[in-house]
Amino acid sequence: MTSSSPGRHTRTTSRRTRSASTVAASGVLAAAGVLAFSPTAPAAPSASSTVQAAGTLGAAAAQSGRYFGTAVAEHYGEADYEGTLNREFSSVVAENAMKWDATEPNRNQFNFSGGDRLVNYAQQRGKYIRGHALVWHAQQPGWVQGLTGDNLRQAMRNHISKVAGHYAGKIDSWDVVNEAFEWDGSRRQSNLQKQLGDGWIEDAFRTAKTADPKAKLCYNDYGTDAINAKSDGIYRMVKDFRARGVPIDCVGFQSHLSQNENLSTYRQNLQRFADLGVHVQITELDVGGSGAAQANVYRQVAQACLAVARCNGITVWGVTDKYSWRARETPLLFNGNYQKKEAYGAVLAALNSAAG
Ligand code: XIL
Repeated sequence: MTSSSPGRHTRTTSRRTRSASTVAASGVLAAAGVLAFSPTAPAAPSASSTVQAAGTLGAAAAQSGRYFGTAVAEHYGEADYEGTLNREFSSVVAENAMKWDATEPNRNQFNFSGGDRLVNYAQQRGKYIRGHALVWHAQQPGWVQGLTGDNLRQAMRNHISKVAGHYAGKIDSWDVVNEAFEWDGSRRQSNLQKQLGDGWIEDAFRTAKTADPKAKLCYNDYGTDAINAKSDGIYRMVKDFRARGVPIDCVGFQSHLSQNENLSTYRQNLQRFADLGVHVQITELDVGGSGAAQANVYRQVAQACLAVARCNGITVWGVTDKYSWRARETPLLFNGNYQKKEAYGAVLAALNSAAG
């Protein structure tokens, strides 16, 4: 085993089949800094515990070699926030702190304070880290927005090199490019697309590969949760990238959903991307709604990921409804008082049943 990253071993290497020595060895390697990242190894099974269900999302997902993560905002000071984050989640992603406006507010002047804090927090607790997002049309600092032509190209390359370079070896998966497609499957007419033409996305991936050769490099988008014109367009791009050796390793499905969502092609859509040889990840899951209807959508998403071998992890877009960007829609697994919602139970049960 060269790495303990989810998805780099098969689903059959579950907690029940991994030997105690393998678990111990990866712990030693991680402690020695040999492994790029070091998630808390699941406890080795004892004869009497082999049918016991895991009690947290992270532990339940680990049984099939997956992570279960959350977006993190700056609420570490709140005991319930940090307690829930630390107990339940095996992976983290910065909700805003690693975006372009936060990390490079002025040209070539970098501010890594928020990202570093999260990375240190996660490393100290053995959690995976997703990086989000290197290049995006939104949350660009003002100085980027007016750039043209080769000036913009150089700014993009420098940003990717410096940010991915700063965190190199610590990030499991990077969202290299975020939200670059329209609903009809064509390219979004962002400043990047208009100034740089179709080649900008592969340029971004090649630059990221040089800066952090170990991270899985992902394309990430929303509204791609079904087989539709938008996911078709992205599928064609990923297929083309794989055929031409452009370094793309993963596709992220944000999955900002509602409880009325039609998920009839959700699993099939994940599978067709996985069949291109990339990992697939649910990257920003939240489901507007409540009660059984909300729980049912969460359950279906978890089951779909579990049914696709290359779906190596799920991230929800926040710990608690209180701080959700969609707070009024109460879309997360813990309510504003950090109580587990019905959706929490549905996800936990799905993760546990997949492990058996
Ligand atoms: C959102 C954050 O949750 C908000 O705090 C911020 O004000 C705007 O961005 N798609 C993405 C995420 O890729 O980065 C967005 O996060 C939500 C939609």
